Amino acid sequence: MASAMFSTPCSVRPVKGLDCQSYAGLRLNTDLKLNTSVSIKSKKDGQSSRRLFIARASEKREEYLQKLGRSNEEHEAAVAAGNVPEAPPIPPTPAAPAGTPVVSSLPLNRRPRRNRRTYVMRASFQETTLSPANFVYPLFIHEGEEDTPIGAMPGCYRLGWRHGLIEEVSKARDVGVNSIVLFPKIPDALKTPTGDEAYNDNGLVPRTIRLLKDKYPDLVIYTDVALDPYSSDGHDGIVREDGVIMNDETVHQLCKQAVSQARAGADVVSPSDMMDGRIGAIRAALDAEGFQHVSIMSYTAKYASSFYGPFREALDSNPRFGDKKTYQMNPANYREALVELQADEAEGADILLVKPGLPYLDVIRLLRDKSPLPIAAYQVSGEYSMIKAGGVLKMIDEEKVMMESLMCLRRAGSDIILTYFALQAARCLCGEKR
Ligand code: PBG
Repeated sequence: MASAMFSTPCSVRPVKGLDCQSYAGLRLNTDLKLNTSVSIKSKKDGQSSRRLFIARASEKREEYLQKLGRSNEEHEAAVAAGNVPEAPPIPPTPAAPAGTPVVSSLPLNRRPRRNRRTYVMRASFQETTLSPANFVYPLFIHEGEEDTPIGAMPGCYRLGWRHGLIEEVSKARDVGVNSIVLFPKIPDALKTPTGDEAYNDNGLVPRTIRLLKDKYPDLVIYTDVALDPYSSDGHDGIVREDGVIMNDETVHQLCKQAVSQARAGADVVSPSDMMDGRIGAIRAALDAEGFQHVSIMSYTAKYASSFYGPFREALDSNPRFGDKKTYQMNPANYREALVELQADEAEGADILLVKPGLPYLDVIRLLRDKSPLPIAAYQVSGEYSMIKAGGVLKMIDEEKVMMESLMCLRRAGSDIILTYFALQAARCLCGEKR
């Protein structure tokens, strides 16, 4: 069960298992069972509150609780008979452990713990919320019929585009996740130095988008715009003989890729390549083809990060040589994110993305404060796999760390989160555990 800090996903349509009540925790009185032992059914504070009550129970308290157990009619009758209730008793102070020092109260006029005292108060004052509507679910697809497990990402699969993918999307929709982003595993035979398969209208991605849109017209489909899955060099752009990644020539290919995805029905194209000027060029290319309604989510601050390792294994897309440091950003840089931000805003990006997520919360906050545009955070493969591994080794509580890290990405300022945990976390938020 999700902990109390994760509040109701009320903005999503009512879906199976989505029980807003279980997050409100406002029916404390009616949940008290009085005849047997004192217990609270509240799913959140349940166990600990129960112990607390029994420990503190005094006769006066019992009497008070019995009054609480009266029906409305009994209450009305008591008031009509002139028995207006007294204020609830101040519970006697429970005993402290032997050896506790006896001190006089500190003269504090501010005690922040007052606002954290009960579940209801903590829920009232919670500043950030997390909902399945905030998640975008990244899904790996391939031409195969089977779903193949990804070794470095426990719980993730390369899904068969015809069956496994459709089922996974249906499960996600059941718990309010209606946005996905597609990453294709392309057979080596189709990879070339110029990545031309990226704009084949009958390629894996456009074909999959058409199938998904036919089945789920309201599904929001994000696509990845970059050459790496299609490049025989494993780079996001075209590689010159001397190893230089060619900028403008790559942008030309990316425009064709984005238009091909839009033609298939993509809602949001997402350039993750980090070439200069690609947002403006893609916007112009989309508009020229009549795709004014198609959004662009720019990978604005994408760092040259080692946290992408498991993803590259999943797609078999490791660069054949060198690294991506001439186009992805230096992890040591903060101000430079503003340079990318200004370019993307001026060129017409609709959503700005920061990647990776948790190690770059300061950058998320920077973009949040400097731009009115929606901000996306990408909790990348390495972040996911570390939490999974820590959970398997029983070093951390996987579910709690998952929920906390997602909440922290929201607190830092992201509107949406691309996360491999989307389905698992949404099920948690909906009170389902599988
Ligand atoms: C490449 C791309 C990468 C990811 C998304 N798109 C890897 C890279 O830049 O090498 C990484 C996502 C992840 O690690 O989860 N266009």
